[in-house]
Amino acid sequence: MAEIICIIGTKGGTGKTSLSHMLCHGLTLVGRRAACVMTDEYREPLRPEGRRYVMADARSPEAREKVVDKLRDLPGWVGVLDGGANRTNTDIALYDLSDIVLLPFRDSPEDLRTIMHDLELFPRAFAIPSQWPRNKWQQDAADKMLAALPAEHRERILPPVFALSASKLLLQTRPPETLPAALNSACKQLANQLLEMMEGSDEDVSNALAQAAALNAGR
Ligand SMILES: Nc1ncnc2c1ncn2[C@@H]1O[C@H](COP(=O)(O)OP(=O)(O)O)[C@@H](O)[C@H]1O
Ligand SMILES: [Mg+2]
Repeated sequence: MAEIICIIGTKGGTGKTSLSHMLCHGLTLVGRRAACVMTDEYREPLRPEGRRYVMADARSPEAREKVVDKLRDLPGWVGVLDGGANRTNTDIALYDLSDIVLLPFRDSPEDLRTIMHDLELFPRAFAIPSQWPRNKWQQDAADKMLAALPAEHRERILPPVFALSASKLLLQTRPPETLPAALNSACKQLANQLLEMMEGSDEDVSNALAQAAALNAGR
């Protein structure tokens, strides 16, 4: 059976689409087959040409059901469902059918308020810092914001995906044939982390989270 991951959340512009493509690309680089499943009715799905992963259009609930049923029958595949903003009911539907749920957020107070709300709404979900600053001062400020969150939220925050301007190459109509090494390596890292979460025991997952939380609190 395929594993299904969804990347959802109330706020727009948090990195759902970028992370969906980065994760799918990364999964193929570590030898898995992946489908990027577009559920946002306000965006056109991207063309499959030039990608190592399959693109699926699932903008209606009927199409979504068909795509997910089909994926479930493909052993070894990973389906990544790319959510849309301000769609609590759709997010609940995507949450219910997914094995792993990711809620990306950026380093703004509004993102933090929204992520706390979403973590409560989706108790199995993990928050993932997205487009996280690399500049030391900005990073310290961003990490301080995380450290100030209540422990029960902080414990569910995964290691960050850093800002990487090359990530937009994956959102081009047709990505270039060769992608920068830094992008490939960020994608692989993300994929390996998710694979560990899918394949590891619950204990592995809580250990990884405890480490990430300690890092987030200490930086
Ligand atoms: N890791 C990243 N580094 C740099 N820019 C990013 C990164 N992730 C997302 N972005 C940019 O942020 C904007 C919003 O990202 P997008 O993935 O479209 O968010 P959403 O799907 O949640 O609306 C886009 O312009 C995208 O290129
Ligand atoms: Mg999007």
